[in-house]
Amino acid sequence: MKRVAILISGGGSNMIRLVESMTQGPEAEGHPAGPVLVASNDPAAPGLARAAAMGVPVAAVDHRPFGRDRAAFEAELLKPILAARPDILCLAGFMRVLTPGFVQRFEGRMLNIHPSLLPKYPGLHTHARALEAGDAEAGCTVHEVTAALDDGPLLGQARVPVEPGDTAATLAARVLAMEHRLYPAVLRRYAAGDRRPVLLS
Ligand code: GRF
Repeated sequence: MKRVAILISGGGSNMIRLVESMTQGPEAEGHPAGPVLVASNDPAAPGLARAAAMGVPVAAVDHRPFGRDRAAFEAELLKPILAARPDILCLAGFMRVLTPGFVQRFEGRMLNIHPSLLPKYPGLHTHARALEAGDAEAGCTVHEVTAALDDGPLLGQARVPVEPGDTAATLAARVLAMEHRLYPAVLRRYAAGDRRPVLLS
């Protein structure tokens, strides 16, 4: 079984779907991976209680006491992560930029989900930017994490239409529903050693 650690910063709705997809119901049948840790940079992240309720070990390291010393924060966060001996790391609503040193340690086995059709709109406020640009469609992307922010080999993409009258919030909700379908599908394929991209619409 491939051991999967998931990093979150908030509600963890993507984490919940990943854990469910590996542990509950028909989609978990024959799944090649299992969750071994959910960790957060925020001890108050609501997703931590949700993960614990699903029986997944949790850990949190508050990034704030470390100030701008990213490497010191990451050295602390690495302790529970390495103790869990993950084969795959999934960033799921994890809102801290990771240093190249951290990324290199997990290069080739770290995934992230980003709420845009990369390479469009890396960074923040993706839905507002898509609306501002008058895009006819939006979506989300799962990619391997490399040292360059929101870059890296594409592993999955899901498209949604932009509807008349959409706000950033209504578009975000439509994209999030697709994230919850895309990420579990990508993780299952990735854990089986298949790197073909998953494309949904
Ligand atoms: C989602 O939009 C996801 O794309 C981004 O963080 C947001 C919240 O994710 N990475 P979650 O509900 O915490 O999984």
